[in-house]
Amino acid sequence: MQIELNINGKKHSLDIKADEFLLDTLRKLGYLSVKRGCNTSCCGLCTVWINGKPALSCSLLTFRADKKDIVTIEGLQKEAAEFAEIFTNEGAEQCGFCSPGFVMTVIAMKKELENPTDDEIKHYLSGNLCRCTGYMGQLRAVKKYLEVGQNEGSR
Ligand code: FES
Ligand code: FES
Repeated sequence: MQIELNINGKKHSLDIKADEFLLDTLRKLGYLSVKRGCNTSCCGLCTVWINGKPALSCSLLTFRADKKDIVTIEGLQKEAAEFAEIFTNEGAEQCGFCSPGFVMTVIAMKKELENPTDDEIKHYLSGNLCRCTGYMGQLRAVKKYLEVGQNEGSR
């Protein structure tokens, strides 16, 4: 099946199998930041953006992304570096395996939510699991990145 994907602003014309998932297609094309964790839509490690919205590439058949805009973290280097600095300063970095999917969701949240509460942040991130941590450092970093709750303690 012939399709066209627009990945990080670059067009790819490719021949795919009808039952191929986007995660496999992206990794085959060299977008190795996209990780496989559960492979069952539970962990968020495989998160990319499709037409600007976070989506789980492990559970999306590639043909459904035909002619759509796909963004991986390779296409968001400036934003990712900005968040990584805050993340490190908050002491939240650990093994990093979940980071690409997590960061894709955090950057999408910054575009979508204005001044969110802790509960709204947690709800937005509920599909992104991390096996290493208790999440408090991550939450601090996300709040700093979103510039919320800086002077008012926990919202
Ligand atoms: S690998 Fe896709 S949600 Fe876990
Ligand atoms: S930092 Fe290790 S899985 Fe999240």
